[in-house]
Amino acid sequence: MSHRALELAAKAIGQVSPSPLVGCVIVSDSGEIVGEGTYYYDKTIHAEVIALDQAGAMADGATAYISLEPHSHHGRTPPCTDALIKAGIKRVVCPIEDPNPLVSGKGFETLRQNGIEVVTGVLKKEAEKLNEKFIHWHKNGRPFVHVKIAMSLDGKIATKKGESKWITGPGSRAVVQHLRHEYDAILVGGNTAFLDDPSLTDRSERMRHRKLVRIILDNSLRLPLRSQLVQSASKFPTIVFTNQGDSESKRRLEEYGVEIVETKEGGRDLRMVLKELGTRKIQSVLVEGGGEVAGSFHDAKLIDKVSFFVAPIIIGGKEAPASIGGTGVKDLSRAMRLRTKDVIHRGEDIEVTGYPVWNE
Ligand SMILES: NC(=O)c1ccc[n+]([C@@H]2O[C@H](COP(=O)([O-])OP(=O)(O)OC[C@H]3O[C@@H](n4cnc5c(N)ncnc54)[C@H](OP(=O)(O)O)[C@@H]3O)[C@@H](O)[C@H]2O)c1
Repeated sequence: MSHRALELAAKAIGQVSPSPLVGCVIVSDSGEIVGEGTYYYDKTIHAEVIALDQAGAMADGATAYISLEPHSHHGRTPPCTDALIKAGIKRVVCPIEDPNPLVSGKGFETLRQNGIEVVTGVLKKEAEKLNEKFIHWHKNGRPFVHVKIAMSLDGKIATKKGESKWITGPGSRAVVQHLRHEYDAILVGGNTAFLDDPSLTDRSERMRHRKLVRIILDNSLRLPLRSQLVQSASKFPTIVFTNQGDSESKRRLEEYGVEIVETKEGGRDLRMVLKELGTRKIQSVLVEGGGEVAGSFHDAKLIDKVSFFVAPIIIGGKEAPASIGGTGVKDLSRAMRLRTKDVIHRGEDIEVTGYPVWNE
């Protein structure tokens, strides 16, 4: 049943940020599922309350399986702990604490004080993975950074003349749309914005609670006014980080609805960029290249997850950009390794997704 609670929570991917994904299953004394709920930000009703409403009187003496610690404070909704206590729930099975300091540990404590048995730790890793972006933002105050790269077998992301459409096949590209759906923001470097003229939209055709924010690191402000990004800036939030002061380019971009964030180092100061995004409650960023920008994130050890989509082609050439530029490491012993890798066939391509382990 803990697994079912996670499944229910996952139904709302893309529809909860900046809140967490939460699912709840109520199982009666006789082992029957009597209520199920999923939290959606726009519906302002918590998974526990939906499930308890369905269960009605059958919640009395039942067990509630919840994917994340229920809250005991008054937020946008009244405390879920009150609803569980009032309904007569006897046991709560819940893998992890909520990292939000307003909730953390207090929800479990309130339940225990009211005679409810609380079981934690079941499917802990899966529950943490499900809410990895939410947990990361609460713990670090900056967004979770996922670098996604489409490359050839020899690690190239474009040809020497800058052609990159399409290195990978339709299977990989469809997955990328679903990845975009999971994220609050998508980020690229100035060269990619200039050369590829991408639209950087979520074309998964799934509902979103917040619009995907598009971020371009472009100190020289050369994003063309006729580009798809600028032309659609009034419809989709678009932020350019730059170190340029007041200029004609800046004013023109702003006229189209592009937000310019100007700081001393502009896009070069990635910690500042992420800090600024964190302040805006942007909990997660998908970095889609190019190689220079991915290299900077790598050098700064600011990558929390990577997905490489590797196509069975060889591009070759010293001048063709590599997937990770920047300075790189001197010694192999210092190379970043991936833990808990997923290796998945996507048509002719192979996706490798994992979490970095940084070697000092
Ligand atoms: N296959 C793929 O997955 C994929 C994905 C994306 C792009 N591409 C291809 O990659 C090529 C572009 O990649 P690229 O490596 O040349 O450029 P890039 O990473 O897209 O952009 C680099 C530029 O961004 C600006 N910038 C601002 N802050 C930065 C920071 N912290 N770190 C690095 N750069 C920063 C710099 O220009 P300023 O100094 O002007 O700010 C820099 O020259 C294109 O050919 C594109 O088609 C392929």
